Amino acid sequence: MGTITTAGFHFLFLIPTIALHAHASSQEAHLTEFLLSRKSRSSSGNTISHPTFHGGSVPVITNSLRTDEYPSSDHRTLKAADKISALPGQPDGVDFGQYAGYITVDGHNGRALFYYFVEAPSDKAAKPLLLWLNGGPGCSSLGFGAMRELGPFRVNRDNQTLSRNKHAWNNEANIIFLESPAGVGFSYSNTSSDYDRMGDPLTAEDTYTFLVNWLERFPEYKARALYIAGESYVGHYVPQLAATILAHNNNTGVMLNLKGILVGNPLLDVAKNKRRRYEYLWNHGVISDEVWADISSHCSFNGSSYGGMCHEAISKSYYTHRDLDMYNIYSPTCITSDNGSCYSSSQLPGYDPCGEVTTFAYLNRPAVQRALHARETKWRGCNRIFIGFKDSPDTMVPTLKWLIDHGLPIWLFSGDFDSICPFTGTRYTVRDLNLSVIEPWRPWTTGHEVGGYVQQYMGGFTFATVRGAGHTVPALQPERALILLRSFLKGILPPYKKA
Ligand SMILES: *[C@@H]1O[C@H](CO)[C@@H](O)[C@H](O)[C@H]1NC(C)=O
Ligand SMILES: *[C@@H]1O[C@H](CO)[C@@H](O)[C@H](O)[C@H]1NC(C)=O
Ligand SMILES: *[C@@H]1O[C@H](CO)[C@@H](O)[C@H](O)[C@H]1NC(C)=O
Ligand SMILES: *[C@@H]1O[C@H](CO)[C@@H](O)[C@H](O)[C@H]1NC(C)=O
Ligand SMILES: *[C@@H]1O[C@H](CO)[C@@H](O)[C@H](O)[C@H]1NC(C)=O
Ligand SMILES: *[C@@H]1O[C@H](CO)[C@@H](O)[C@H](O)[C@H]1NC(C)=O
Repeated sequence: MGTITTAGFHFLFLIPTIALHAHASSQEAHLTEFLLSRKSRSSSGNTISHPTFHGGSVPVITNSLRTDEYPSSDHRTLKAADKISALPGQPDGVDFGQYAGYITVDGHNGRALFYYFVEAPSDKAAKPLLLWLNGGPGCSSLGFGAMRELGPFRVNRDNQTLSRNKHAWNNEANIIFLESPAGVGFSYSNTSSDYDRMGDPLTAEDTYTFLVNWLERFPEYKARALYIAGESYVGHYVPQLAATILAHNNNTGVMLNLKGILVGNPLLDVAKNKRRRYEYLWNHGVISDEVWADISSHCSFNGSSYGGMCHEAISKSYYTHRDLDMYNIYSPTCITSDNGSCYSSSQLPGYDPCGEVTTFAYLNRPAVQRALHARETKWRGCNRIFIGFKDSPDTMVPTLKWLIDHGLPIWLFSGDFDSICPFTGTRYTVRDLNLSVIEPWRPWTTGHEVGGYVQQYMGGFTFATVRGAGHTVPALQPERALILLRSFLKGILPPYKKA
């Protein structure tokens, strides 16, 4: 964090934080902060970007495997200890297994990752294993992914009780929500300098070590089809983890049955993402012709300094978008009234823009932390220690290309109301991959309406949009998100039926 003191940083930092404070959840605000901090670090001449991949060849693997953290006889005991009998306030009739606990990923430094695992209510033995990650960097998959997006429960307004999410993804897969990297949520390290060296490569290595050790604890899932999914900054984590797995599958005795990856509203290319953000705001009528013309002519967004003219152009965009949730420019926002209570600016069935408050209160209840087998701690949705995240490449194109060349199916999807990682930026990145189209752009439907659009490329590479969803697609369009998940898991494109 030492270098984020340039005037430019504060200037740029202020713009989105004011807006986000009022409206967007901290997971989302976090990505914005991270992108801005990258900007300031590169403009101070402090290059931090070391791609994990060189010349599109094999990923660089710096760790040796640590699969021996526990004597093998312990696994059965540890699994039994991780079983959740019931979460406080959960509704009656919970018909699926829940587990939570820690996996040590570095015994020497005392680094451990916290997971929450939910099995499928029916036919769990026939359903795949899916690891879900949230981005930030620094935000929790338990607080966001599990409790606000695709997990089996939502926290009610009373902060104490839970209700079922009928579009929960564990209807289709057994799901691990991992708080990653160490320092996020309940995950921690006993060696605080670990946080300073945290970045993309260590995150991928720790997550890999987590998976290998987790499968020792849950051996019935060892041969199961494994999928990895997430959103936002996870556009970095998921491809890097997938590449780490494929490379280790080749080099070690450990074999993870990775079948595909799925990433929503991914951050893939910093420069394209930023440019298309303003273009998106322009072609959705949020910023003026003049402001867009100024931004497009004065901002290069390519890793060099923004420059004064660019700063000025960007700052002019602020007042037209400050009252919007930039992560879903059409969604209700969370308003904090004078007496401190929060309410939604308007009604959108199934979506509570203030839901973060209740999740925070629930996960900080001592009884909940005990039920989750978590260390008693002040749980936060996002941890700001990762703003100086290390070794975050400017573009994920070489990694994606490497994965495609090694036969891994990749699905990207984009909620089309998100201006922070807009679908247009993702489209340009997909174009950079030079893939030939197998199934041209077409609508997909939920049975009664168009859910979005989809195009498939060689090697199973698929890009889909989800209409009317913002950055957190499963929270805003849960039915559409679930249809997309089902299609991805089956390896077939989502259906098109005339309404
Ligand atoms: C971290 O330190 C605490 C206190 O000494 C210890 O109980 C815990 O097991 C350590 N964590 C890891 C992952 O080694
Ligand atoms: C829920 O928790 C929030 C944050 O701690 C608090 O402001 C709110 O009053 C609580 N709601 C209820 C119903 O207790
Ligand atoms: C696995 O090894 C083979 C033979 O050395 C190589 O051709 C292939 O690219 C490797 N795959 C991965 C995923 O590293
Ligand atoms: C960024 O773009 C500007 C203007 O297009 C160009 O002059 C500069 O060389 C570029 N810098 C990098 C690092 O690509
Ligand atoms: C707080 O203010 C809101 C909106 O002004 C109002 O609906 C609510 O009843 C108030 N709550 C309390 C506890 O006074
Ligand atoms: C795509 O094609 C362009 C032009 O031929 C080339 O410069 C670029 O390296 C290719 N990208 C990838 C990822 O192969």
